[in-house]
Amino acid sequence: MKIAVIPGDGIGREVISATLHILQNLDLPFEYVYAEAGDECMRKFGVPLPDETLEICRESDAILFGAVGETAADVIVRLRQELDLFANVRPAKSIRGVNCLYDVDIVVVRENTECLYKGYEFEVGDSAVAMRVITRRGCERIVRFAFEFARREGRKRVTALHKANVLKKTCGLFKNVFYEIAKNYEFEVNDYYIDAGCLYLVTKPWIFDVIVTTNLFGDIVSDLTAGLVGGLGLAPSANIGERYALFEPVHGSAPDIAGKGIANPSATILSACMMLRHLGFGEVAEKVERALENVISEGKTTPDLGGNLKTMEFAEEVLKNIG
Ligand code: NAI
Ligand code: MG
Repeated sequence: MKIAVIPGDGIGREVISATLHILQNLDLPFEYVYAEAGDECMRKFGVPLPDETLEICRESDAILFGAVGETAADVIVRLRQELDLFANVRPAKSIRGVNCLYDVDIVVVRENTECLYKGYEFEVGDSAVAMRVITRRGCERIVRFAFEFARREGRKRVTALHKANVLKKTCGLFKNVFYEIAKNYEFEVNDYYIDAGCLYLVTKPWIFDVIVTTNLFGDIVSDLTAGLVGGLGLAPSANIGERYALFEPVHGSAPDIAGKGIANPSATILSACMMLRHLGFGEVAEKVERALENVISEGKTTPDLGGNLKTMEFAEEVLKNIG
C-alpha cells in the first residue's frame, strides 16, 4: 500500500518523523512516498501545494499530513476541496494520566468543504465580504456520515451545532436536513445554537457524544474539545471522502515551539492509528493506542502534558511499550 507523507512546516516535520519512526518498526506493508507542501515549499518552489504533491496524493491509499503554517488555506483547506474530503472526524477522548476536568469522549464530525472556507472573499470598496456556501447535498452527506459513523461506533446520541436563529438560510438548511435525515436512524438527537453548545461543552461535556456541524464552527469547536482532554498535542483527525482519506493532527505548525524538539507527537500518532483502522489494520492501531496510553499514564510525556520527554524520546517509549 502506498502512503503519501506530507510533513509540512514547523512541528509538522517533527511529529511526522516521530510517527514514522513508530510505523516503520511495525512491519506494515506500506511504501511511504514523501511530498512537499507548505510555507517552506512556497519559499523553495514558489507554490504552496505543487501539482506533483496532489498527484502523489491521488495515487496513494492514504495520506498522512503533519501541519503547515501560514499557507494553511492554500494547502490543507485546498487538499480537502481538491480531494473532496467532505468529512472531518475529530475525536476527543480523555486519556488516563492526563489532567482534565471531566472524563470526555466526544467525536466532532465537521463538514470540510463548504461554509466560509470555500474562500469566496471579495474586497468591495474599503470593505471586505465573505460568502458562506451551504448546499443541501453538502448537508445531507455530512449528516448521513455522522449518523453512519455513530452507528458503526455504537454511539448513542448525535447533536447538531448551528446558529439557525441568526443565519436563517444557511444554518436553517443545515438544521432542517439534520432532522430530516435523523428520522431514518434510531438515535437520540438534539441541537444547540453554537454559542450555547460551547458553554455546555465546557460546563457539562458529558451530554455530548457525536457532534455534527458546519466547517467553521467545527474548526473552532474541535480545538475546544481538544482543550477538554489535554490540548492540541492529543487531538487527532481523519479527513474522509468517497475516494481519498487524509489523516492529520488538529494542530498547526506551532512556531512558538518549532525546532525545539518538544512537540507532542501523540496527535499525529493517534491520527496514524485512525489511518491504520481505515486501511484495515485495526489490531495494530489498537496496540499502538494502548501503548501510547500506557506511556502517558506512567507520566512519561512531553512538556505540554507536564513531562520532560523530547518528541523522539516519547516515540521511542511508545515503541518500547509496544514491545
Ligand atoms: P497551533 O495549533 O500551531 O498552536 C496552538 C498552540 O498549541 C501553540 O501554543 C502550540 O505551541 C500548541 N501546540 C500545538 N500543537 C502542539 C503539539 N503537538 N505539542 C505541544 N504543543 C502544541 O495554532 P496557531 O498557533 O494558531 O497557528 C500556527 C500556524 O499553524 C499558523 O501559521 C496557522 O496558519 C497554522 N495552522 C495550520 C494548520 C494545519 O496545517 N492543519 C491548522 C491550524 C493552524
Ligand atoms: Mg483548526
